[in-house]
Amino acid sequence: MIQETLNKIREEALKRINESKNSESLNEVRVAVLGKKGSLTAVLKGMKDVAAEERPKVGAMVNEVRSEIESLMENARVKLETLAMNARLENEKIDVTLPAKGIKMGHRHPNQIALEEMERIFTGLGYEVVEGPEVERDYYNFEALNIPADHPAKDEQDTFYINGDILLRTQTSGTQVHEMEKGRLPIRMISPGRVFRSDTVDATHSPCFHQVEGLLIDEEVSFSDLKGTLAEFAKELFGEDTKVKFRPHHFPFTEPSAEMDVSCFKCGGKGCRFCKGEGWIEILGCGMVHPHVLEMSKIDPLKYKGFAFGVGLERIALLKYEIDDMRLLYENDERFLEQF
Ligand code: DAH
Repeated sequence: MIQETLNKIREEALKRINESKNSESLNEVRVAVLGKKGSLTAVLKGMKDVAAEERPKVGAMVNEVRSEIESLMENARVKLETLAMNARLENEKIDVTLPAKGIKMGHRHPNQIALEEMERIFTGLGYEVVEGPEVERDYYNFEALNIPADHPAKDEQDTFYINGDILLRTQTSGTQVHEMEKGRLPIRMISPGRVFRSDTVDATHSPCFHQVEGLLIDEEVSFSDLKGTLAEFAKELFGEDTKVKFRPHHFPFTEPSAEMDVSCFKCGGKGCRFCKGEGWIEILGCGMVHPHVLEMSKIDPLKYKGFAFGVGLERIALLKYEIDDMRLLYENDERFLEQF
């Protein structure tokens, strides 16, 4: 009678173990057969009704079935785990011989390319690259550059004032003063950076743009050093055949002052749409540092001379890459930037 029950339990258990597809269903079998309320446990609980002399025999039979089921269950568990592991490995398989996915690289902004080019040229000529503050005192932006409070040049540049004395610099020229004040001579520096003017945005204006300032101070410096240096710069930047022309101009902090034009690198100077028929393109302002500017920064104008120049970085980028609208430089449209 018990033998029969045990056989049924055994068969049922074997069938369910074989049908188990995962460890959960295997566990259900364990609970149903060996658990507290399991079928085999029920047989053990019924032992009290078995005659005392029969008990060892029945007990041995139950234990035999129990250990058989346990070992089959263990085998099934190992088999299922191996299957699951293999399926996972298959799923995670990597073909290391496949070509790698291309990484999408960013692009250098035309301003950045133009700046790096200028830095390369001037560091090659022995210049140092220094940076000055964007938030500046009136003194550095105007006064120390020979632009006193009532000077008309102060109205020419629409300045963003933070208060009566502090402003957003309208030009990088203030860096000249900071460098001169350090009292380390001679000086050969260029200083790139952002400048601010309250202009309305259009194809050639922006309230925030970039300049690169240049300053050289030494004992024997003449206007021909300025011309030679800037002519060399123009050739490196726009090509060996580039010619330069200096037109007299006025800046309060230089005397004499000039604007420099380069021969149009599109038409070679014959005149075209690019140079508006002129054959020449204006690219920077420059001059010999005004003695008064030297004096204010505690440099003896009888001993030292210097030249300075200021270049609009956007202007160089627009010219070099033939971009006809400055706004393109600030919109950062990928379709535009991708071309550089
Ligand atoms: N700071 C001038 C401007 O914003 C540019 C300039 C002209 C800078 C002549 C100079 C210079 O250093 O010598 O228009």
